[in-house]
Amino acid sequence: MRKLAVCGENGKQYPVFLGWDLLERDDWLEEIKFPSSFGVIVTNSRVGSLYEERVSSFFSRQGFTIQVVTIPDGEEYKNLSTVEFIYKQLLNLDLDRKSFLLALGGGVITDITGFVASTFLRGIPYFSIPTTVLAQVDSSIGGKTGVNLPQGKNLVGTFYPPAGVFIDLSFLRTLPPREYKEGLAEVAKTFFLAGGEILSLLEKREQILSREEEILEELIFQSLSLKKKIVEEDEKEKGIRSILNYGHTIGHALEKVEGYGKLRHGEAIALGMMGEAILGEKLSITPSKVVDKQREILANFHLPTQLKFKIEREEFFAALRQDKKKERGKARLVFLKDFGQPIWGVEVEEEKIGEALSYLER
Ligand code: NAD
Ligand code: GLY
Repeated sequence: MRKLAVCGENGKQYPVFLGWDLLERDDWLEEIKFPSSFGVIVTNSRVGSLYEERVSSFFSRQGFTIQVVTIPDGEEYKNLSTVEFIYKQLLNLDLDRKSFLLALGGGVITDITGFVASTFLRGIPYFSIPTTVLAQVDSSIGGKTGVNLPQGKNLVGTFYPPAGVFIDLSFLRTLPPREYKEGLAEVAKTFFLAGGEILSLLEKREQILSREEEILEELIFQSLSLKKKIVEEDEKEKGIRSILNYGHTIGHALEKVEGYGKLRHGEAIALGMMGEAILGEKLSITPSKVVDKQREILANFHLPTQLKFKIEREEFFAALRQDKKKERGKARLVFLKDFGQPIWGVEVEEEKIGEALSYLER
């Protein structure tokens, strides 16, 4: 088992435990201070049917009283109606401020549970139990919570770090291939931003695709460690944390235009990174060899690097205009000068982004 401690802006640390079959042992649990013995698992129908019983009995064996709130599965349910549904269920369960939530699921669950925890009764603690690659490497730490609005992704949210993160890698054994591969997009993103030796880990294509335990653990641990460094320096995204949005400006707009759920989040980010790399190349920021290498790595994981459909420009630009990272009406993007050398906050005219999209459509 490996352990990290992430320090939030408020100086508070939260532990991250990472290992195989974490729920088969309880030694690590002693290190965590729970505010009370009453917790509520928030999960979705799919993850719940696989793991709710296991997680619930694990905590019950330790003397906790555990209840469960289940929401429907899918990005399209990461919205304010579901938040209200969860609030009502929590009220029915008679939660108080010392009760805690356990977010059991992928990024949709960790985002929405974190948001509910940050607002319910003006804030109660929550722990993340991420079950997808994407959630284990990205959404489980850093404290970004939120939901989508019809106008765009994650437009309502808070910065509210979890009280602890329990990453049981064995959950990944049941993750379907498409969901597994989309998580690799966020792993690749982190490694592109880090550059250097670590990139060579991504060359182990066969081991990664066949989910070999050793490489998987290393990929997830390294991604988390890199993200930890960045969010500890800039939790509220006033500066360097923006680099974690590489591929997300174009990616989020594509996800919105396609309709949440059709293009998976990680797939949209792979396309977004390609769009932003090509745009960087046109702006003489990103060298062609970086664009080509990035394309090769993403394609190796069977992630999309080209659009299979034409994008309706009006809709795309409308989605882009809702991007949280814009300033004075202009999109602000992250580019790679090289692997390991990201720059952020680069203002780009809409027209140029439209051109990059045309290259993705070819
Ligand atoms: P997801 O939560 O929708 O999970 C993907 C699918 O896999 C779902 O159908 C889910 O039910 C299923 N699933 C989850 N775990 C499983 C398991 N172990 N076995 C079988 N099936 C399982 O999607 P995701 O890709 O995990 O997360 C995407 C979301 O994360 C997006 O909403 C994105 O905005 C958000 N996100 C947030 C942050 C952050 O910092 N807060 C970072 C990156 C992404
Ligand atoms: N996934 C982007 C961030 O955590 O900032």
